[in-house]
Amino acid sequence: MDNFILFAGTANPTLANAIAQELHVPLAASIAEHFPDGEVAVELLESVRQKSVFILQSTSPPVNDHLVELLAFADACRRAAASRITAIVPYFGYARADKRHGRCEPITASMVADLLQAVGVNHVVTLDLHTPQIEGFFRIPVDSLTAVPSLHQTLRHHLPPDVVVVSPDTGRVQMATQYAQRLDSSVVVLHKQRKSSSETEVTRIVGDVRDRPCLIVDDMISTGGTINRSIEALLNAGARPEITIAATHGLFVKDARAKLTHPSVQAVFVTDTVLPKETDWQQLQVVSVAPLIAAVIRRFQTNGSIGDLF
Ligand code: R5P
Repeated sequence: MDNFILFAGTANPTLANAIAQELHVPLAASIAEHFPDGEVAVELLESVRQKSVFILQSTSPPVNDHLVELLAFADACRRAAASRITAIVPYFGYARADKRHGRCEPITASMVADLLQAVGVNHVVTLDLHTPQIEGFFRIPVDSLTAVPSLHQTLRHHLPPDVVVVSPDTGRVQMATQYAQRLDSSVVVLHKQRKSSSETEVTRIVGDVRDRPCLIVDDMISTGGTINRSIEALLNAGARPEITIAATHGLFVKDARAKLTHPSVQAVFVTDTVLPKETDWQQLQVVSVAPLIAAVIRRFQTNGSIGDLF
């Protein structure tokens, strides 16, 4: 356990410190700042020669800055002869750009995978990837963990017994099923259609929500539009106005908080993969994934399996 070093980019110092504390190691010293023209400047202040290096960085907003910082850290480690570079990316930005919708579009998630490999990353650890097939963009190992067990541990105490788990679109059915199995509940699926990059509508509900409290689950909340439309659709379909929301990544961009501040919403659970900026929001509960990530680092350093952590 002693021949590794943990660097953190600037995306989420709170999570980085919590992981370091769990592991009883200090965070390695480094500088990450911007030149006056906006370029990212990174410097390692500790030797990484022949060491296993972990770089912690969510590529959360500002996505491009955090991504370039992560790439710069990895490049610096490779050039300074680190023996192994593991990028721990709790929130993997650009994951929604995993396919082409038109002939003239990029697959940006694939481009990010190429960039990480080009700078020498040997292994990627992330949580609740938007789609599991993103792993296929990499030729290196990718461990996509899930925060479902961590979130379930906390939210199960807050849910009414007859709760039904709602997947806000077909892409989240597997996640909703994981929650439903743990809660001994059933799954309802909403059919969501995207009108624009920030506007969606629910066209159909598969399952019965009449007089049932609902738990809406998702991988991420960005603008809050998906959840907002889901709440409206569920209430229109006769759901009890007792709604709980659980998402792994709480980005809360633009007026997301206002969109989720609805009289029927009792609580919003997210993890700390993204640094929470809403500190005075009574309904918001943040569950830390620091113990999970620390456990992964520990297992990697002792060549242990992480199978039971999924
Ligand atoms: C979409 O497929 C994702 O799983 C999320 O539902 C979506 O990205 C959330 O974004 P927003 O909060 O802006 O609707």
